[in-house]
Amino acid sequence: MDTLPGRIVRLPREVAERIAAGEVVERPASVVKELVENSLDAGARSVTVVVEGAGLRRIRVSDDGIGIPPADAPLAVERFATSKIRQAEDLGQVATYGFRGEALPSIAAVSRFDLVTRPPAQRAATRVRVVGGGPAEVSVAAGAPGTTVTVEDLFFNTPARRKFLKSPGREFALIVDAVQRLALAAPHVAFRLSHDGREVLAYPPATPDERLAQVLGRSTAAQLVPVAGPWGTVAVAGWVSRPEAARPGRGLDYLFVNGRPIQSRLLWRAVGQGCAELLPHGHHPIAVLFLTVPPGALDVNIHPRKLEVRFADEHRAFAAVAHAVRGALLGPGGIREVGEGGGPGHAAETLHPASSGAATLPPASSDLATFAPASSRPATLRPSPTTSLPDAVGETGGAYAQGAAVP
Ligand SMILES: Nc1ncnc2c1ncn2[C@@H]1O[C@H](COP(=O)(O)OP(=O)(O)OP(=O)(O)O)[C@@H](O)[C@H]1O
Ligand SMILES: [Mg+2]
Repeated sequence: MDTLPGRIVRLPREVAERIAAGEVVERPASVVKELVENSLDAGARSVTVVVEGAGLRRIRVSDDGIGIPPADAPLAVERFATSKIRQAEDLGQVATYGFRGEALPSIAAVSRFDLVTRPPAQRAATRVRVVGGGPAEVSVAAGAPGTTVTVEDLFFNTPARRKFLKSPGREFALIVDAVQRLALAAPHVAFRLSHDGREVLAYPPATPDERLAQVLGRSTAAQLVPVAGPWGTVAVAGWVSRPEAARPGRGLDYLFVNGRPIQSRLLWRAVGQGCAELLPHGHHPIAVLFLTVPPGALDVNIHPRKLEVRFADEHRAFAAVAHAVRGALLGPGGIREVGEGGGPGHAAETLHPASSGAATLPPASSDLATFAPASSRPATLRPSPTTSLPDAVGETGGAYAQGAAVP
């Protein structure tokens, strides 16, 4: 009867899991992003990513975080099981990268999955293995404190997904980008990444400025000026390139909201507006910007891979970025000095070049006069050492995003 055309039937669990997994795990870089985010949520001070075969043969992420208690370990691969929220209302106050309890079961549905985890207070580790979304095998194992997840043969049971991947070189570049974005969001954490036995990245724990130089390279970092400023309830910190460092063609954006790397055409347009008429024609900036907004003014649950967020007040977010970027470019260290003191008040007066863009900004709030000096920036960039997200902010281009060419 179930096979008659037109009848509605429940899909077998494994089929449903595979479909759901398709939304979360698009490519190897999605796996790396989810696993590293889990490590950061677990308070790791050090995260090591080992990749083989562009992530299709093996991805291993090891951390020295809080681990998972033995009794909870099997739940880690169960859909909608999470230690990060407890009730629907918590979604309005999410302070961790994770909140859905979907990443590990999704990854485990499309790979050969192995997790070894040990809270520092436990003497032994717990191992959880899942093959292609099948039943979890749980055992006691040896293991250092922290968590190591190994994902092999990604998409072995979803050949269609495998077929649509890009070249190994491109897929690995996307992995590098994912790691770099999270490394910018968590400068106090050490990161290592290797590919086929070759070390690709090694970032020791750093200040935000040092991490910027580690990720972008010292010479590029030296071409950026600090951005800082509150706009009402939105704080913006980070860096933008001086006009002479603007890039022909695509720009490069690393955008973060409340510590979460995101893609955002809205914010990238705001960067473009902040730079309006200050860049050579056809050039785009490099921007590394961290927005901090009240958690209740942000919906983080709108994108299957958590790459986008929705602002309760888009105009405010836009204005904050446009003003902060423009203030940085017109202020000390930017294009020219802005009057005596170069303070924000002056910057506000210079926000009205002939450009049509600036005219569409909302009226400057009195907050503009309280622009924080660049030196206050690191305070908003330092995540707490516990399981919460960095207070500061992040990105939107390259691996995660296609938004980089927006303006
Ligand atoms: N590296 C880790 N260290 C400690 N605990 C972890 C680690 N990775 C996962 N966990 C635990 O396993 C649970 C499930 O992880 P999973 O990534 O599937 O969901 P999540 O992070 O809660 O939400 P999301 O699906 O949004 O990522 C987490 O809530 C956390 O308790
Ligand atoms: Mg997670």
